[in-house]
Amino acid sequence: MAAELTLRRPFDWHVHFRDGSVMRAVLSGTAEHFASALVMPNLVPPVVTMDDAVAYRDRINAYLPPNSEFEPMMTLYLTEATSADDVEKAAKAGVITAVKLYPAGATTNSDSGVRDTTKVAAVLERMAEIGLPLCVHGEVTDPDIDIFDREAVFIETVLDPLRRRTPGLRVIMEHVTTEDGVKYVQSESENLAATITTHHLMINRNHIFKGGIRPHYYCLPIAKREHHRLALRAAAVSGDGRFFLGTDSAPHVDGAKESACGCAGVYNAPNTLSCLAHVFEEESALDNLEAFVSMNGASYYGVSPSEKTITLKRQGTAVSYKSKVKTEEGDITVFDPECDLHWVVA
Ligand code: NCD
Ligand code: ZN
Repeated sequence: MAAELTLRRPFDWHVHFRDGSVMRAVLSGTAEHFASALVMPNLVPPVVTMDDAVAYRDRINAYLPPNSEFEPMMTLYLTEATSADDVEKAAKAGVITAVKLYPAGATTNSDSGVRDTTKVAAVLERMAEIGLPLCVHGEVTDPDIDIFDREAVFIETVLDPLRRRTPGLRVIMEHVTTEDGVKYVQSESENLAATITTHHLMINRNHIFKGGIRPHYYCLPIAKREHHRLALRAAAVSGDGRFFLGTDSAPHVDGAKESACGCAGVYNAPNTLSCLAHVFEEESALDNLEAFVSMNGASYYGVSPSEKTITLKRQGTAVSYKSKVKTEEGDITVFDPECDLHWVVA
């Protein structure tokens, strides 16, 4: 069995850094292991204009240690008032790497999201023209649709029609959680890809309710049945270039999670690479780990893979991680995969 793995430095194609003191506490969890990460724009208020993205990028860079080579890639939060000219300007200036579509109300801090996708048609057309990718939170928000069906219904009623209306638009289904999503992505040979999170490869919906309610396993899209998790694992380890890592590392302080109405989000940045090596080893697919974490996303986004490397070592004893990260606003619980991890970043 391989005891050491050297990979090009990975990219995280979906991360939440937040802002201020929480950002200061969580940034190193990603920056220490990743070459770069696509930073989600759902701050309060959201990052909607090029100027907002420049200011947010500067705040991130200001918190990185001076010798850090980590590069944040920025996104804009699409609203029904977004200007196509501003998006184009931000893309051409190299400020943004993608635009993020949140259906209004679908998830944490998504109130300013899109209610009617036909209202953003001009922006989407411009993005297709200039080759700027659209990241999509793929869930309908209709309260009559069962929470476990919201992704599948979204594909049929929103995503597929939107893609047909905007040929050439490069789309990423963020944090895909269902077999339906995997099959939809596999059915298209171009302009469609998906990110998969660390936790959705390791937990199914039973974990959320094991012996009681487990708020730290609650995220959106919510974890689904076991057969969906297995479909995600098969896609992730297959080497198929349409699937790549987006951790969706989404820190919330414990007080906000362990509450009568707890926030959605799993904070997995610090142990993500250990978890992924564990999953790929279980699937006898360690040879494809580099494709999933370092190559496929870069290739879909048209970004060069990192020239730097990272080495993972397999140790006999279980790796221990801090279960909490401290911030000025309170502790943040780190994802617990509920199994021993043996791979560690050297
Ligand atoms: C994310 C967050 O907390 O910002 N929460 C989550 O459960 N994934 C938002 C998101 O990506 O949906
Ligand atoms: Zn997210």
